[in-house]
Amino acid sequence: MIQRPKGTNDVIGGGANPYLENLFQALMDRYNYEYIRTPIFEASELFHRGVGETTDIVTKETYDFVDRGNRKMTLRPEGTAGVVRSYIENKIYGNPSIPFKCWYYGPMFRYERPQSGRSREFYQFGVEVFGSNDPLTDAEVISIPVNIYKMLALKGIKVNINSLGDEESRNKYREALKKYFKSHLKDLCEDCKTRYNKNPLRILDCKEDANKKTIKEAPVMLDYLNEGSKLHFEKVQEYLKTMNIEYQINPNIVRGLDYYTHTVFEVEADIEGFGSQNVLCGGGRYDGLVKSLDGPDTSGVGFALGMERLISALDLSGINFENVGIDAYVVPLEESAKKVALALTNDLRLNGFIIDMDYMDRNLKSNFKQADRLKAKFIIIIGEEEIKNGTLKVKCNKTKKEEVIEFKEIMVYLHEKLSGCDCGECKH
Ligand code: HAM
Repeated sequence: MIQRPKGTNDVIGGGANPYLENLFQALMDRYNYEYIRTPIFEASELFHRGVGETTDIVTKETYDFVDRGNRKMTLRPEGTAGVVRSYIENKIYGNPSIPFKCWYYGPMFRYERPQSGRSREFYQFGVEVFGSNDPLTDAEVISIPVNIYKMLALKGIKVNINSLGDEESRNKYREALKKYFKSHLKDLCEDCKTRYNKNPLRILDCKEDANKKTIKEAPVMLDYLNEGSKLHFEKVQEYLKTMNIEYQINPNIVRGLDYYTHTVFEVEADIEGFGSQNVLCGGGRYDGLVKSLDGPDTSGVGFALGMERLISALDLSGINFENVGIDAYVVPLEESAKKVALALTNDLRLNGFIIDMDYMDRNLKSNFKQADRLKAKFIIIIGEEEIKNGTLKVKCNKTKKEEVIEFKEIMVYLHEKLSGCDCGECKH
C-alpha cells in the first residue's frame, strides 16, 4: 500500500477546517483585505533572496527541484516572498489606493523533523500590507490573529512583541553581537560558527544552541534601537493598548526569517498538553524586502498562522466544530419517485437548505438509520401516492411525528420549522 509522505496529513470531512476557512474569509472582508493566491512553487532564488541565505528554512528545509526546463524551483516554505514577488511583478505598487492589504491561505512546505505541531506540509493563513510605514498598520496586523482567537473563544493566548529596529540600529546591534560572540565561539555549534561570519543575528535563532547560557546572556536588540526605531515601537504599543490588546515585550524574539525590521511578534498558546511547538502565529514588519527583490522602496508588514497548530489548540481547549447535521433527508420510495426526489433535492439546495438524499435504494427502515447518521432534522418521503396527490410526507426526526403537507408548501414549511418550531418538543 502506498502511504502518504512523512510529515503530511489527509484532511477528510468537515470539522474545523472549512469552519476556520470561512471565518478567515469573513474576517478579512470586514478588515477590507483583498484575496491573493500565488503559485505553490517559485524560482528558488526568490526564497534565497527573500527569506535569507543563512536561515534554517533556506539552508536546511526547502523542497528544491529542477524542472524539465532545467530551472531551479522550490516549493514555497512560506507565503510572504511569493506575495512580494507578485506585488512587484504585477506593479500593484502603481495603484494609487495604498496601502495594499491582502490575505492568503494555502499549503507551505518545509523539510523539518515531523513532530506534534510541526509537519512538512502545513497550511498557513496570512496577511501582508504594503505601502504604509505607520505603526498603525503593525498594530492592525497584530489585531487580526488576536481577534481570530477571541472569536473562537480560545484562552491562554500570549502576544509577544519585540523590535528589530531599522537598518542603522541593526547594524549597530550586529557589531555588538560580533564583539560578544567572538570570545564565546567555542560554546556554539558548528552552524553558529558559520552564522557568526555571515549573519550573527541568526545565532539567536539556533534550535541547537537555544538554551545555552551564552545565548541567554547575549546583548539584546532593544538596547540598540535608535530614536526613530524606539518611537515606532512605542507607537505600536500605544495602539495595541488602544485596542485593549494585552502583550508582553519579549526581547528574545528574532524570528526565523531574515526580512524583518522594526516590529516582530509571535502569539503563543499556553494550553496544557500543547507541547513545545506552541507558537500559533508570527509576523512583523519588513520594510526592506520589496526593494531587495528589485521592487520600489516600499514598506511591508504581515503575519501568518499555522492551521494545524490552531486546530490542535482548539481541540485541547475542548472547542470543536461538530457537524450540526443536515436540514432534511429526502427518501424516494420507488424507482418512479426518484426524479421528483432529485428535482426537490436540487430546488431545496438552491434555496439554501442543507439536503441529502438516498442514493442506495435502501428500504425505509435503513433510510431512517441513515437519516440518523446524517443528523437530519427532517425526513421527506416521496412515493407514488404522494406524487399522485401533490403532497409530501415530512417526518420530524426528533419527535418522530409525521405530517402530510402540500408539495408546494415544503419551502415555507422547512423554513418555519427550522427557524424556531412551535411544537414545544423538537427545539429546532
Ligand atoms: P513563520 O513563523 O515561519 O512565519 O510561520 C508562521 C506560522 O506557521 C508559525 O507560527 C506556525 O504556526 C506555522 N508553521 C511554521 N512552520 C510549521 C511547520 N513545520 N508545521 C506546522 N506549522 C508550521 C512565516 O512564515 C512568515 N511568512 C510570516 C509573515 C508574514 N511575516 C510577515 N508576513
